[in-house]
Amino acid sequence: MPVPSANTRVALANRPERGPITPKTFRKESVPLKTPGDGEVVVKVELLSIDPAMRMWLVDTRSYLPPVQIGETMRANGLGRVVATRSDRFKVGDLVHGTLGWQEYWVGPARVLEAREVPVGGNEIDHLGFLGVSGMTAYFGIFDIGRLKDGETVVISGAAGSVGLIVTQIAVAHPHCKVVAIAGSQDKCEKLRELGAHVVLNYNQQGFAGRLRAVGNVDVYFDNVGGELLDVILAQINPYARIVMCGAISQYNTNKPYGVRLTPQLITMKATMQGFIAFDYEKRYPEARAYLSDLAAKGKLKYDYHVVGGGLDGCVPAMQEMFDGKNYGKTVVAFDEKEAKPKL
Ligand SMILES: NC(=O)c1ccc[n+]([C@@H]2O[C@H](COP(=O)([O-])OP(=O)(O)OC[C@H]3O[C@@H](n4cnc5c(N)ncnc54)[C@H](OP(=O)(O)O)[C@@H]3O)[C@@H](O)[C@H]2O)c1
Repeated sequence: MPVPSANTRVALANRPERGPITPKTFRKESVPLKTPGDGEVVVKVELLSIDPAMRMWLVDTRSYLPPVQIGETMRANGLGRVVATRSDRFKVGDLVHGTLGWQEYWVGPARVLEAREVPVGGNEIDHLGFLGVSGMTAYFGIFDIGRLKDGETVVISGAAGSVGLIVTQIAVAHPHCKVVAIAGSQDKCEKLRELGAHVVLNYNQQGFAGRLRAVGNVDVYFDNVGGELLDVILAQINPYARIVMCGAISQYNTNKPYGVRLTPQLITMKATMQGFIAFDYEKRYPEARAYLSDLAAKGKLKYDYHVVGGGLDGCVPAMQEMFDGKNYGKTVVAFDEKEAKPKL
C-alpha cells in the first residue's frame, strides 16, 4: 500500500473547562507525514478505543499520565496495520496495538508497539475489548484489589459498560457469588439479567436506593462511577469489605464534584477502599488474557461493542455517546465499519 505524504489528525485545540467536551475542544488538520527512521514503522490506524479516562487526559493535573498538550494529537489506544517498515520487528500487513492517537497514520519506533493476532474464534476488535485494557482492568480489579471469594455479594456499577460487563460475568462465573449489577437503563438491565446477574438495578429508576438497600450487605463493590452511589454502598458494607476504586465517571464532567461522606464506615467495618491502574499489571497480562479467553470459550463471557463509524469524524461523537450512556460494552471508533466486524 502506498504511504501518503500527508496525515490527517485530531489535535487538542482548547483545554476544556469542567463539563462535557465540545467539537471546539479539538481541531482536525492535515500535517506532513513523518518519514520513518531506522527502527521505525508506519501504521495505518483501523480502530480506536474510546475511554472515559480520555476526559481526564485533557485536564492539566497530576495523574498517572501527563495531560495531552495543546496542539498534540489526541491520545488513544488503537489497532492498525503496518504499511511501511524500517524495523526487523514487523513486516508490512502485521496487526499492531499501541497508543496510536486520533490520526490516520502513526509513525514511530516499532519497539513501543505490540504484535497482535486475530484471536481464535474472535475478531481483532477483541484486542480493544475483553483482551485489551478493559479486560485487564476487570480481571486485576476484581481478583487483586477486590480479592473476590466464593459466596460473596458483589455489586458492580457501570455494569453494562466495557469494564463492567466483564466484571459482572467474572463474578457470575465465580462459585456461589451473589451478583448485583447496576446500570442506567431498563434495556441494559435486561441484558445483564440474561448474562446471569442475580439482581439488576436501574439507577435512573425511582426507588433505586431502596432496592439497593434491600440487597443487603456487600462484600465487594466494584466502583466504576464514584459519586453519591459510593456513599449508598458505604452505608451497607460488610466487615472486611473491599471497595475497588476503578473509576468515577459520574465526576469526570461535573461542575460540582460530590464529596463522599461515609468513609468512617471503612474504620468501623475494617474495610478497604483501593484505587489501581491496570497498566501496572502489564507483566501479568498473559495470565488475565488466558483466564478471559477460557471464560469466553466456555460461553461464560459474552461481550459487545458500540462501534461508531466515520474514522476521525466519529471520535468526538463516540466520546459524547459514551458519557451519555449510549454504549453497551466497549466504545470503539472504526475507520472502516465493515472491517470492524464485531463479534456479538
Ligand atoms: N483503573 C483503571 O485502570 C481503569 C481502566 C479502564 C477504565 N477505568 C474506569 O472504569 C470505568 C468504566 O470504564 P469503561 O471503559 O468500561 O467505560 P463504559 O462503562 O463502557 O462507559 C461509560 C458508562 O458509564 C456510565 N455513566 C456515564 N455517566 C455516568 C454517570 N454520571 N453516573 C453513572 N454512570 C455513568 C454509562 O452507563 P449507564 O447507562 O449505566 O449510565 C456509560 O455507558 C470508568 O470510570 C473508567 O475511568 C479504569
